[in-house]
Amino acid sequence: MSTRTPLFLLAWLLPVLGVQAASLSPSSLTMSPGQVAVVTVTNIKGSLSMTNSSPAVAAAALASPRITVSALKAGSTTVTVRDKGGSKSLRVTVTAPPMTVSPESLNLTAGQSGTVTVSNPNGSVRAASSNSSIATVILSNNLVTVQGKMAGSAAITIRDSKTSRTVAVTVTSNGGGGGVTSTEGRLLAAQCFQCHNAKGGSTGFDRITGESVNEIVSEMKEMQAKAASEPEIMHSQAMIYTDAEITALAQYLASLSGSGSGGGNSNGGKDNDDD
Ligand code: HEC
Repeated sequence: MSTRTPLFLLAWLLPVLGVQAASLSPSSLTMSPGQVAVVTVTNIKGSLSMTNSSPAVAAAALASPRITVSALKAGSTTVTVRDKGGSKSLRVTVTAPPMTVSPESLNLTAGQSGTVTVSNPNGSVRAASSNSSIATVILSNNLVTVQGKMAGSAAITIRDSKTSRTVAVTVTSNGGGGGVTSTEGRLLAAQCFQCHNAKGGSTGFDRITGESVNEIVSEMKEMQAKAASEPEIMHSQAMIYTDAEITALAQYLASLSGSGSGGGNSNGGKDNDDD
C-alpha cells in the first residue's frame, strides 16, 4: 500500500484520531409503503441530531442509538444524523407496489360493457385495445370501461409509468333476446331488409333471420362464389361485402332469432320461394 499521498494518510489518521462521524447500519433502505425498519447508529460522539429531507415519503424517529423509519409513499428521502464527528446520511427509497388491474379477463357479448379497476397506478394511466372493432376502451378515473363490439378477442393494454398489464377480452355475438346489437351489423343488414323480411315473418324473399352466424356466413360466401357464373340478384348482392362485413351482419341477423319468436308473427312457412 502506498503512503505517499498526504490525503490518503489523512483518511487513515482520522478514524485513529476518533473524529469520524457516527456510522449507520444499514446505510441505505429500500422499502414499500407501510413497512417499518430500524437503523442502528454506532460510534456516536457527543449528542446526535437528525434531519429528514422528505418526511412525506418516510417518517424517521430518532431514539438514540436507533432510528425507526416508516415508509409512507413512493419516493426517496435522505435521513441525516449529525454528531460532533460530522454527519452521515441514510438514503431511503420507497417503491410503490406495482399497478394491478382487476379483473384480468372479461367476457362480453357484443354491445355489452364491462369495467376494469386499476389499483396503485404510478403516474398517468393509458389504456388501448388491440382491436377496436372487437372491443373499445374508455378510461376515466382509473376505471377502464370496455365495450364489446363484435365477436372475437382483443387484448386491452393498461399502462402506467412503470407497469403494463393486459386484460384479455372475449366478445361473443349477441344471442338475441333484446340486448344491444352491433350498430355496424345493423346498418349493413338494413340493405338486406329491402328484400328480406326483418322480423322473421314470411313476407319478402327467403327469411334470413333465425339462422346461425355460421349458416349465414357460409351462404353468403357460397353466393359470392357463384356470382360470376350465375348472375342472380342475391349473388350480386353478396359480392359487395367484405368478410368482416359479412361476419358483422351475420352476427346481427343471428341475434334477431330470439326476438322474432316473441313477436307473434309466425305465419307458417319460412320459405315463400316461388320456384
Ligand atoms: C335486391 C334484393 C335482395 C337484397 C337487397 C338481398 N337479398 Fe338475399 N336474396 C334475394 C333473393 C331474390 C333471394 C332468393 C334467391 C333464391 O332463392 O334463388 C335471396 C336469398 C338469400 C339467401 C339464401 C336464403 C336461403 O335460405 O337459401 C340469403 C342467406 C340471403 N339472401 C342473405 C341476404 C343478406 C345477408 C342480404 C344483405 C346483405 C341480402 N340477402 C340482401 C334478394 C335480396
